[in-house]
Amino acid sequence: MEKGIKAKNGKASLLDVVRHLIRKGVGLPTLPATAQKVVAATQDPDCTPAQLEAIVRQDPALAARIIKMVNSSFFAGMKEIHTLPEAFMRLGFARVKDLALAVGIKNAYKGVQGHLRKELEYLWKNAVASGTACREIAQACGHANPEESFLAGLVHDIGSAFIIQVLHGLGKKDPTIASLPENTLKELLAALHPTVGAEMLESWHFPATICHAVRHHHAPENAGQEDHLAWLLFAGDLIVRKLGLDGAPPQEDISLATHPSFQTLKLTDLEIGKLLVDLEEKAREIDAALG
Ligand SMILES: [Fe+2]
Repeated sequence: MEKGIKAKNGKASLLDVVRHLIRKGVGLPTLPATAQKVVAATQDPDCTPAQLEAIVRQDPALAARIIKMVNSSFFAGMKEIHTLPEAFMRLGFARVKDLALAVGIKNAYKGVQGHLRKELEYLWKNAVASGTACREIAQACGHANPEESFLAGLVHDIGSAFIIQVLHGLGKKDPTIASLPENTLKELLAALHPTVGAEMLESWHFPATICHAVRHHHAPENAGQEDHLAWLLFAGDLIVRKLGLDGAPPQEDISLATHPSFQTLKLTDLEIGKLLVDLEEKAREIDAALG
């Protein structure tokens, strides 16, 4: 354990320790090879259902989880399916791509016990809701690729998931960290997660546009004038919070139309209204399959 961790200024020193561990100590986590291939395939506009199916087949556990999800409660009452081609047929290529991505990424949200586990579960729910919101916003505004936007939304807070895992590891040796006050945890995550997330995704060879947008998703004005993806992530977060799609109480007072993110994306009041209605339905559907 580093000396600074017990310093009076606990927050600053803990920030340094976590940053140091991520950079030098524990290193960044790896993404399984199949998940990396799924990411590459889903971002390739020329990828065919047969090619994606071939990749998923290489990982029987991934294939089994996709089939299990297709048989989830949302599709209850329909004939149970047992094969990937049946999954493609029932859901369509676009939805299978979303499922394959989500199953691949979900591993990054595991491995923690105790109160931090709740935080990870919330982050996963938020990731799925954000991916769905970002895809719908991209479709509505026409400034961003819906596939890329779904993936960006899914991983935009992945840095927080990893920091929680690091803290969980530290907490096993240090009771101060194991009982970290909630506001300190929140401040730590806020300070580090965009950079840590971007570095993780770079190490996983994610598209540079997604890494850049994740790095700037809390300050999209720093991402560059033409970077609609960073603004879109911000807009996705607002919409998720307004509707409470992540399971938190809805923040109905959030005004979308006047917010810089929606103005940058040039969405009209009418388009935003339609988006809100469509999203509630879609989010319920995807949450039932992935939650
Ligand atoms: Fe964030």
